[in-house]
Amino acid sequence: MIRINENYAKLKASYLFADIARRVGAYTAAHPDKPVIRLGIGDVTEPLPPACVEALHAATDEMSKRATFKGYGPEQGYAFLRDLIAKHDYADRGCKIEADEIFVSDGSKCDCGNIQEIFASDVRLAIPDPVYPVYVDTNVMAGRTGANIDGRYQGILYLDSTASNGYVPAVPQAPADLIYLCFPNNPTGAVATRAQLEAWVAYAKLNKAVILYDSAYEAYIRDPRIPHSIYEIEGARDVAIEFRSFSKTAGFTGTRCAYTVVPKTLMAFDAAGKPQALHPLWNRRHTTKFNGVSYPVQKAAAAVFTEAGKAQVKGLTDFYLANAHLIRESMTRLGFSCVGGDNAPYIWINVGRDSWDFFDLLLEKAQVVCTPGAGFGKCGEGHVRISAFNSRENVEMALSRIADALK
Ligand code: MLT
Repeated sequence: MIRINENYAKLKASYLFADIARRVGAYTAAHPDKPVIRLGIGDVTEPLPPACVEALHAATDEMSKRATFKGYGPEQGYAFLRDLIAKHDYADRGCKIEADEIFVSDGSKCDCGNIQEIFASDVRLAIPDPVYPVYVDTNVMAGRTGANIDGRYQGILYLDSTASNGYVPAVPQAPADLIYLCFPNNPTGAVATRAQLEAWVAYAKLNKAVILYDSAYEAYIRDPRIPHSIYEIEGARDVAIEFRSFSKTAGFTGTRCAYTVVPKTLMAFDAAGKPQALHPLWNRRHTTKFNGVSYPVQKAAAAVFTEAGKAQVKGLTDFYLANAHLIRESMTRLGFSCVGGDNAPYIWINVGRDSWDFFDLLLEKAQVVCTPGAGFGKCGEGHVRISAFNSRENVEMALSRIADALK
């Protein structure tokens, strides 16, 4: 008799953003005359940078000619892209990352979700709360947790991120083996200082643990003191995997390109306590289950590192940050306490009431979609996240509608 993976029964019925899309879909079907402005899921709205479009066109032309046509590429990504990433995202920031430690993929969501496969099923997890739901849900699916009791899964060491710690959890007293960190943070928009990251790297060393560092939003950092990569911290090569994406940087949410860094010096341990490198494990996993990002998309991603591409990406992220500034200012004026939005495209707002109720209120009275904080974890209750990803016109209209609705 075929049986299901019963770990799925421990999950909430649907994924957070699918749930929101369903509710918004029901609302728009019932009120076709009331256009909705989406500041919920962090999906970009501005077109691809011209440098990327030009590269996409040129690569598509190459695909149209026998002499330059490409079939399967290397699963880990073409050397032209891995070399550029190693130089611009790492060497130029003083980080020692080799091109063959970079695995190009079609998204950080998949990589953050899949990486847990290379670790034992009984590792002790430390996961912030609130958090991007993928980290928790994929471990639930893999059977690393018990039941969800009162909004928390048994077997996870939750790292509360609250106003009292500036939304950056301190290292816990208890030991953990696999630690998820995301900075600039989704959903709170908080950033971690060098000293805070140093403490995490020291904790990981002490506990022979691995940090999974999601820095998908690093291009939004404007404070020069804030590290963009965990590898800016001495010793991090030996304890951390990093996830990066072109999605929020260069508008690739619909184009799909990201990468994961697994340093060759990073070890985990086998049952006998013998160190084993993680790089060959991830390489094995990646080459077995993934066939590479398409050539035109990798060419478009490579264009991000040209002088024109860099300037265009800076223009895009500046544009969304200006939206974020407007949102934070306006919500603060309405009397809410807000964080984020200065080094991140998300504003985390303490609404002081049930977050799904506030979500419904904004949808019904202002036709604005936000993300209820409770969807990111227990500590997210009482908050909502507003995303800066939209046109200026829509952001301004949304803020004016919110102000009217809350009068
Ligand atoms: C979010 O809104 O949290 C992100 O867009 C989700 C994602 O990147 O998958």
